[in-house]
Parts: sequence; structure tokens; C-alpha cells
Amino acid sequence: MKLSDLTGTKYSVIQGGMANIATGEFAAACSNAGALGLVASGGMNAEALREQIRICKSKTDKPFGVNLMLMNPDVDNIAQMLVEEKVQFITTGAGNPGKYMKAWKEMGAKVFPVVASVALAKIMVRAGADAIIAEGGESGGHVGDMTTMALLPQVVAAVDVPVIAAGGIASGKQMAAAMMLGACGVQVGTCLLVSNECPIHENYKQTLIKAKDNATTVTGRSQGAPVRIIKNEMAREYLKLEAEGADRERLEKITLGGLRRAVCDGDMIRGSVMSGQVCGQLQAIRPVAEIVEEMVVDAKECLANASTIAI
Ligand SMILES: Cc1cc2nc3c(=O)[nH]c(=O)nc-3n(C[C@H](O)[C@H](O)[C@H](O)COP(=O)(O)O)c2cc1C
Repeated sequence: MKLSDLTGTKYSVIQGGMANIATGEFAAACSNAGALGLVASGGMNAEALREQIRICKSKTDKPFGVNLMLMNPDVDNIAQMLVEEKVQFITTGAGNPGKYMKAWKEMGAKVFPVVASVALAKIMVRAGADAIIAEGGESGGHVGDMTTMALLPQVVAAVDVPVIAAGGIASGKQMAAAMMLGACGVQVGTCLLVSNECPIHENYKQTLIKAKDNATTVTGRSQGAPVRIIKNEMAREYLKLEAEGADRERLEKITLGGLRRAVCDGDMIRGSVMSGQVCGQLQAIRPVAEIVEEMVVDAKECLANASTIAI
């Protein structure tokens, strides 16, 4: 099964939820471009998120969804609000959505939990997931330990629902590779940050365009909450303190409000500039539609020519 059969979208591509970035307007732009746009819930309460969902609805007649981080303090109200707003696609992270599943399914939603391990994938399928998003640690934002290359085929082998690949995908070749590993489609984040429509500060986009392959690092491992970000003054200070065994309170002082500093103020020195490892591939700021369409067209071409590859 193709992801687009499950979502009713033109392409088998999901715009990954991105806290403080994936607004209703951005999600609608991604849906209008043929992907499944997702409104991110990070940092929002139910009413603020409802407003973004309504903005999304007003700007697209295409399918869209919501990304719900289950550690959100207003999670119960958000879960109920998604039912009221009849949100048809819900991706979840940072927890088990089991207790909301019945209400979401009765409303007709499809639920795609994001996982970074086979064990979690199996738990999510038992909880009623319609598909699994297997996310490798190459991705931007909160990450697991495994790479997409190793994780994806193991999740595909372990579950009997469609699997969507995420992490390290920003080109048709990478999408084709994911499909060869058994994915039904892909979820992307980093490559969409450098779109015209993405509402991040221009400095953020330029930093990603200039970034090289090894421009990112992972902070927060000592706290059990690893996050992939661009190496900058804040990241270096954080890693130094982590190596010295600094406690949570000390470390949190450095990152508090960091994503907003990067996204809204364009602070590339002290901000938390979340990015995946594919940043080294990004070359230009382009419309979302061009990024998504090129990826799918190139992936199809790669797969069509696959038999000519000598092994
Ligand atoms: C800036 C940024 C913020 C993110 N925030 C979230 C989030 O709030 N919730 C979530 O489930 N995933 C989040 N992610 C992960 C994306 O949804 C997506 O799975 C990931 O970016 C895919 O890997 P890629 O970055 O290599 O394309 C974030 C990623 C980035 C780059």
C-alpha cells in the first residue's frame, strides 16, 4: 500500500510536525503542495491549537493532520478537541496514545505514532495504530539512537501495518531508498525548513543552506532527551556542561526558550537551531511544492532505473 492511498494526498509524503514552526498556514501550504501537512501542537494549549487547525482548514481543502506530543501539559483537552474538530490524521510522539485511540477511531481519524525502536512500534500497533512512522536519529529535533537505515527494515519486519520512513530524507534518491527498505512513504522535516512558506527567521534558513554534512550535534543525551541541533555557541556550552556532569536545572537554563530564539529572533548563536543531518544537502530556498514534487519525481525515476544498477 502507498501512503497516499491511506492519506488521500497526491504524494506519499508527510510534512513532519515541527513545534513552533508548523503553523496552520504552513501545514496548509504543505497540503496544497500535495503532501500531508501537519499542524504541530508543541508549546500550545488546546484552544491555541484549535485556532491553528481552523486556519489550516480555511486555507486548504486537502487532507491535513495534527502532530500531538503526548507530554503536552494540556494533552487531555487537546485529544478531545481533535475529536471536536474532526482531525482526520493524528501523529503522536513522546508517549502512548492508547487511552485516546477509541475516541479518535470512532471519529474516523487515522493515527500514526512516531517511534524510534521496534519495541515501541509493536506497542503502538497493539494500541491501534493505523501506520507507524519509524524515525531514525539523523532527523532534526528529538531523536532516538538508531539510524533510519537500520531501524526502518526492522520495524517493517516486526509490524503488520504500513510503515512511513522519517529521518535523513531530503531527496528522491533517499525517498527511493526508504521505499526499497519497505516504507510506504516518507515524513520529512529539515528539507521543508528551507521553503519560502516556512515561517522561520531568514537567518535560520540561511544557516541551513550554508551548513555542511557534519554541522549538527546531539545535546541532551545525559538527560534522556536527545535533540539534534546545529552546532553553535549554545550547543558547545551545553555539551561541555554535560561532559562535566552538570545537573538538569543548570542545563535547562541554557536551552529554555532556545527554539523560539532561533525561530522568531533568528538568534543563531544562542538559539536552539534544530536540524537533521541532511542540512548539508540543502542548497536553495524554494517553494514547498517544488521541494516535494522534485523528491517524488526523482524517487520514481530512481526506482524505475533500479534494475540498471550493477551489483
Ligand atoms: C525544527 C524541527 C522541529 C521538530 N519538532 C517536532 C515536533 O514538534 N514533533 C515531532 O513529532 N517531530 C518533530 N520533529 C521531527 C519531524 O517531524 C520529522 O520527523 C523529522 O524532521 C524528519 O527527519 P529530517 O529532519 O531528517 O527530515 C522536528 C524536526 C525539526 C527539524
